[in-house]
Amino acid sequence: MSFGRVTGGDNGTLDGRLERILFDQAAIRERIAGMGARITEDYGGGDLTIVAVLQGGVLFLADLIREIRLPLRMDSISVASYHGGTASSGTVTFHQSRLPDVEGRDVLVLDDILDSGRTLGAILERLRAECRPRSLRSAVLLSKRVERAVPIEADYLGFEIGDEFVVGYGLDYRGEYRNLPMIGVLKREWIDDRG
Ligand code: IMP
Ligand code: MG
Repeated sequence: MSFGRVTGGDNGTLDGRLERILFDQAAIRERIAGMGARITEDYGGGDLTIVAVLQGGVLFLADLIREIRLPLRMDSISVASYHGGTASSGTVTFHQSRLPDVEGRDVLVLDDILDSGRTLGAILERLRAECRPRSLRSAVLLSKRVERAVPIEADYLGFEIGDEFVVGYGLDYRGEYRNLPMIGVLKREWIDDRG
């Protein structure tokens, strides 16, 4: 049995597929520490539930909750708004019928990135209408500086970026690259324009 390289190409590294790094691991860590400190101040004494949007929000969730020095609960919600490409499809599909049990609680929804606003907009609307939280806010690691289809801004923001497609730290292209510890832009050769 061999534990050598299974597949070749791209000089062997996933990072080698990036054309540009926007935020490295240290920058992300520092920013999330700042966000966690603010959230800790804002929510002292509450009954906080963090609801992560799967799957992109998972890394953000894991790092952010360790910077929040308060008792809290964790839950998740699974949606898809991209269907394989690099542009939002315009529809938000909920993958589960069970919504988080957060009645009377302070809810903070986490997502990786705010783009058209459809995903976060749909989630906040459903939680507000069906879950009766005491309060409802949102936190995103990234926000694209674009005109939103649904006018919404997050209450807590990591970084603002331009209108470009990014991967890493939870963000995927066709299901991959979520495990990159940094956030960056893929080289053109790794993006399939055929659809
Ligand atoms: P929105 O509904 O257009 O605001 O898009 C939000 C969702 O689309 C996020 O939860 C991401 O999953 C995905 N998304 C938006 N922009 C990017 C990107 O640049 N890279 C990877 N995923 C993205
Ligand atoms: Mg996503």
